[in-house]
Amino acid sequence: MENSSVFLREEYAQREFWNNRFRDYKSPFDWYVSWKELRPILNSNVPAESIANVLMVGCGNSTLSGDMGGNGYNVTNIDISDVVIDQMKDKTGQDYLLMDATKTFFKDQAFDFVLDKGTFDALACQAGSELPSALVREMGRIAKKVIMIITHGKKAARSPVFNGALEEFGEWKEEVIKCELSFQAQFINIIRSMYPGDSLSKVMKDPEKLAACIKQLAEYKKSKVTEENPLRQTFCWVYIYSKLEGQNEAQKEENEEEEIPDKEEENSEAAEAKGAN
Ligand SMILES: C[S@@+](CC[C@H](N)C(=O)[O-])C[C@H]1O[C@@H](n2cnc3c(N)ncnc32)[C@H](O)[C@@H]1O
Repeated sequence: MENSSVFLREEYAQREFWNNRFRDYKSPFDWYVSWKELRPILNSNVPAESIANVLMVGCGNSTLSGDMGGNGYNVTNIDISDVVIDQMKDKTGQDYLLMDATKTFFKDQAFDFVLDKGTFDALACQAGSELPSALVREMGRIAKKVIMIITHGKKAARSPVFNGALEEFGEWKEEVIKCELSFQAQFINIIRSMYPGDSLSKVMKDPEKLAACIKQLAEYKKSKVTEENPLRQTFCWVYIYSKLEGQNEAQKEENEEEEIPDKEEENSEAAEAKGAN
């Protein structure tokens, strides 16, 4: 999608762009997927009972945080847009903090689970920027157990960036899961694909254009994703990084025990061997 006219917008990495957008569109909006699509992935990979707290970076006015909260997750939200933070902070009872996700004020490993949906992709719209990697590095610093990044980016492009940014924070097990886009996200992709020069609200208010998009939606599933038209991609990717440090420490201890033989153990083993003889 980075190659499309829609996603080649440098403003996606800028606070003012998002402030204007949240002033214009106050209704909740979820990029790519919502709780409905993510629930099975969350339940099987990061169940609420295994996680003490979650940080949602670049929360926007997504409904995901509220739904996760309703399903046992203890969520804190941050975003760079003061407009959306003001709009959201009294809505869910969760914490909504104004913070740049590439340099937060949280201490190392402050959250068991750090989750991003769409912020990496927004920052990646600024060509040649260090910000996308800085975001993942900061997620690696703050996360104690699991990081999840939800993006339209394929493994060949994303995986080296994510792994490169995380390597200074220990070893991580990577898993990449394909997830069908929500109906809302697919419909918006159709509007953008068909009328790249128009704003969403303009198309929604134009009966002819709206009807054409609805017709296209019926065809959507049948059409093939092509490199030329990546907006036809009907899925996104969920990258899950689980920290292996605990296991490594255990292994290290095991190795150390092997290297320095325990005298007492040696003696009792020798005694046992004697007895057996
Ligand atoms: C594509 S939207 C995704 C919103 C939400 N996560 C969702 O899935 O619907 C990107 C969000 O990242 C926020 N954002 C952009 N740059 C940021 C930064 N440096 N730190 C924190 N949030 C940022 C924007 O304000 C916006 O809310």
